[in-house]
Amino acid sequence: MREINNIVILTGAGISAESGVATFRGPDGLWEGHRVEDVATPEAFQRDPDLVLKFYDERRAKLQTVEPNAAHKALARLDAEWGGNLLLVTQNVDDLHDRAGSSRLVHMHGDLLNGLCLSCGQRSVITDDFSNRPACPHCGERTIRPDIVWFGEMPYHMDQIELALARCDLFVSIGTSGAVYPAAGFVQTARHYGAQALEMNLDPSDGSLYFHESRMGKAGELVPAWVETLLSY
Ligand code: OAD
Repeated sequence: MREINNIVILTGAGISAESGVATFRGPDGLWEGHRVEDVATPEAFQRDPDLVLKFYDERRAKLQTVEPNAAHKALARLDAEWGGNLLLVTQNVDDLHDRAGSSRLVHMHGDLLNGLCLSCGQRSVITDDFSNRPACPHCGERTIRPDIVWFGEMPYHMDQIELALARCDLFVSIGTSGAVYPAAGFVQTARHYGAQALEMNLDPSDGSLYFHESRMGKAGELVPAWVETLLSY
């Protein structure tokens, strides 16, 4: 096994579950009572913008009631103390990694706090409810949609992520079902370039067989223990 210097960490909804944020693929197959395709596709927004804007307003309001948990904090500690390269790639649109203090962080599926203007294409922090149709701070048009990468759209930061995956010695996946590409394929990319791969999840993900090691349990317990060990070498 080669020495670990460069690390890429991928997180999904499972890391925020212990903070009280709902995961996407619960036992009922619904996301907060909705089918994903009714609230998370460009077609859904075209068909029923009011429903989609209200749905994301509710998710934004929920953010104010939740706090980073031990797993977010442990990754922020790793970010602060790890001397090598590190990239934390989150599929989550909540701001819990940001609030915990992670800085080497990219949100590949967008950010609940941001709006994307359909007129000028600029992204900006929007504090008013989307349902109130706030004006874009850049062009003034009232054509803001949630800055969320919906199904069928291209995730953000892919060039940076692909480069980090090609260079990493260790790829770690935390709290994701491995059901959504391209993120679900990152483990194979990293392994193609020779990385070790570790998964931490409540139960085996769809891509479990691609990992050298799978640790099953709660992120709030597994992640701090893993970070402690890694930093003690
Ligand atoms: P999922 O809801 O598909 O998967 C969450 C995973 O976390 C499951 O495998 C759970 O077993 C696991 N889990 C639950 N609680 C946990 C805990 N306390 N500790 C550790 N693991 C736990 O969520 P994602 O994989 O993140 O895309 O979903 C990927 C994408 O699908 C999302 O980013 C979203 C969605 O459509 C967009 O919004 C664009």
